[in-house]
Amino acid sequence: MLSWDEFHQDEAPAQSKPAPAAYKEPEPAVKEQAAPSYNTAASASDSGPVSDAVKAARESLEHLDPAPGLEELEMGAARIEVDDKRMINCRADLNQLVPFKYDWAWQKYQDGCANHWMPQEVNMTADIALWKSRDGLTDDERRIVMRNLGYFSTADSLVANNLVLAIYRLITNPECRQYILRQAFEEAIHTHAYQYCIESLGMDEAEVFNMYRELPSVANKAAWSLKHTQTLGDPTFNTGTPETDQELLRNLIAFYAVTEGIFFYCGFSQILSMGRRNKMTGVAEQFQYILRDESMHLNFGIDVINQIKLENPHLWTPEFQKEATQMILEGTELEIAYARDTMPRGVLGMNAAMMEEYLHFIANRRLAQLGLKEQYPGAKNPFPWMSEIMDLRKEKNFFETRVIEYQTGGALNWD
Ligand SMILES: [Fe+2]
Ligand SMILES: [Fe+2]
Repeated sequence: MLSWDEFHQDEAPAQSKPAPAAYKEPEPAVKEQAAPSYNTAASASDSGPVSDAVKAARESLEHLDPAPGLEELEMGAARIEVDDKRMINCRADLNQLVPFKYDWAWQKYQDGCANHWMPQEVNMTADIALWKSRDGLTDDERRIVMRNLGYFSTADSLVANNLVLAIYRLITNPECRQYILRQAFEEAIHTHAYQYCIESLGMDEAEVFNMYRELPSVANKAAWSLKHTQTLGDPTFNTGTPETDQELLRNLIAFYAVTEGIFFYCGFSQILSMGRRNKMTGVAEQFQYILRDESMHLNFGIDVINQIKLENPHLWTPEFQKEATQMILEGTELEIAYARDTMPRGVLGMNAAMMEEYLHFIANRRLAQLGLKEQYPGAKNPFPWMSEIMDLRKEKNFFETRVIEYQTGGALNWD
C-alpha cells in the first residue's frame, strides 16, 4: 500500500499549498496570479541534474495555457449559479457537479450504484445441465433462449455506443452526465452478462452475436435503433437550433422510450416466464437484474425528455408530437413482429397474441409518460407479474445483502 511518507514534500511546487482558510471572494483570475515555474534553478539544484526528458516536460508546462481545456469557460469568471444550469445548450461550467439542480438525476445515480451487481455472482450450474440435457427444454423454449440472447447480446452495445458517442456531449449538465456514465457502465455489465450466458451454455458465439445482422426479426429492431443514432454520431453535429434540438429529442425517444422501453419487453417477459417455471433460472436471474437496471434507464430517459420539453416548449410542436407518437408505434410493430417470430406457437403460458396485448399496454404507458395520447384504448396487462418483478425493491433481503457486500468490498484501509 502507498504511504504518504513516500512523497517528498520539497518537490511539490509552492502553488500546490492549500489556500488559507480565510481566503474570500472575489477570486482573482488565474492570469493575474504569478505563473508557476517548473524549471527554476532552485528546483533543479534540489533534485540534482535532470534528464533531457524532464527538461522537455518542464519546458512544455511553462507554456501551459489553463483556459482552452475548459470548453468555453473564462478563467476567473463568476461562480456557477444553479439557475445557469440547463439540460441542453448550456454554457455554464460542466465540470462542477454542484450546486445541484437536477436532483432526480443525482438520486438515480446513487440508486444505480446501490444496485450494483456482476454476472459471475449468478449460479449458472442448473442452466448448463438443463441446456445440455436432451429433453430438458422443448424446441420452442430453446428458440426463445437463443433469439433473446441474439438480440440482447448486441442491443446493449448499441445503447452504450449511443450514450457515449452521441448523447453524452449534448446533455449539458453534470448531474445527468454523472448518471449517463453510470448507465454506460451498467450497459457494459449487461453485455458482459449476455456473453457470460452464451459462454456458459456453450452456444455458437458467432451465430448468436451475428443475429442482429442475419435474422430479420432481430436485425430490423437493431436497424431501427441504429438509424436514429446516425445523425448525432457525427462528431460535427451540434444542438442549438430548433431543428437540431429536435433531432436530439428524436434520438432520446428512439433509445430510451423505444429501444430500452419497448424492444426489451418481449424478451424480458419470455425469459422471466421461463424462470418462473423453474427453467433456465440462472439466465432468468441475470435478466431480472438487467430489467431492474433498465427500468431505471427508461425512467431517467423519460425525465430527461420531459425536462427538455419543459425548458424548451417551442420544440414540442403538434407536428413533432405526431412524429414522436409514430416512433412509439413503429417500435411497437417491430416488437410484435419479434414476438411472432420468437413464439410461432404458444409456449410458457404465453403466445404472440397475448404479447401483442402486452406491448399495446406498454406502448400506451410510454405515450402517457411522454405526455402523448394513448393509441391502444383499453389495452390490458396480461402479465401482471412483470410489474412485480420490476419493482424488486420490495425484496428487502436482496438489497440489504447486496449493498453491505459492496460497501465492505469497497472500503479502503489506510493503516
Ligand atoms: Fe442494458
Ligand atoms: Fe439500458
